[in-house]
Amino acid sequence: MSKQQHRETNMDKNFLKTEISRLKAEKNAVILAHYYTLPEVQEVADFVGDSLGLAQKAASTDAGIILFAGVHFMAETAKILNPTRKVLVPDMRAGCVLADSCKAAKLAEFKERHPDHKVLSYVNCSAAVKALSDLIVTSGNALKLVNQLPEDEKIVFVPDGNLGDYINRMTGREMVLWDGACRVHDRYETEQLDKMKELHPDAVVVAHPECRREMLEKVDFVGSTAAMLNFISQSEDKEFIVVTESGILYEMQKRNPDKVLHALYNGDPKHDCVNMKKNNLQNIYDALLNESPELTMDEEIRQKAFLPIKRMLEMS
Ligand code: 13P
Ligand code: SF4
Repeated sequence: MSKQQHRETNMDKNFLKTEISRLKAEKNAVILAHYYTLPEVQEVADFVGDSLGLAQKAASTDAGIILFAGVHFMAETAKILNPTRKVLVPDMRAGCVLADSCKAAKLAEFKERHPDHKVLSYVNCSAAVKALSDLIVTSGNALKLVNQLPEDEKIVFVPDGNLGDYINRMTGREMVLWDGACRVHDRYETEQLDKMKELHPDAVVVAHPECRREMLEKVDFVGSTAAMLNFISQSEDKEFIVVTESGILYEMQKRNPDKVLHALYNGDPKHDCVNMKKNNLQNIYDALLNESPELTMDEEIRQKAFLPIKRMLEMS
């Protein structure tokens, strides 16, 4: 990019940021963004968080419009909790491969094959799947919530097999697992971690539980995006390898300017979540200006999906 183009792009970005602030105030709108979004998106957000924090924020906001910069199932969760508010999604194509791996019709069949089991669903699933669930968990509260369930409770866990396997190992449960995975985390290679450890032998390694078991067995700390952030902020160690989507490095570095942080693949976008990166200043501005695209939902599904989310928020 030439110097001239670079100056123009920055000017555009500053203009869009100012306009987004103006529209937010004018329309009583709030922007919620996930840690995996682009830095420029996190900069204009009123709240940046993991999926649990975002659901809690969505439940407590009194804004008339919620613009959700994340992926589709997260915006759906905001709508389930706020039926009377307008929920805007900058790019409706921002889905989640993991959520898409579990269709409601298939889950209904799965439930029939396990009639005496409760359905525990990771929040990364559609509203229709939530409507068939007994309880929702996030990576931030899964262990805590599962430990509150009766020990002899039979459970099927959908859709993330890696997270389910991790919960089984940590709690001693034998939940039946759905065969789904996040294509971002599931593809992280232990060989890459070995290389990074060789380059940075003093670094402490943190990872998201959506990674495969062989990866999780090699790391020092496993937790949700918010848990990894807190772990690094509270640690006395100074160097870390972060095994999750590299977007989180932005907030991590901001909170820990004195620490050295390495993304597993040095921030190579090939290993990031393309859907999270579909949110940008231009489509956030357009969505606020036009109050579109708006997420809508069948009211019967919404009411059914509300119950297991409400249960989750009460138990968290
Ligand atoms: P968190 O709940 O840790 O934010 O994770 C959400 C997610 O989609 C991870 O891939
Ligand atoms: Fe879905 Fe994986 Fe992207 Fe998270 S990182 S939103 S689980 S595809």
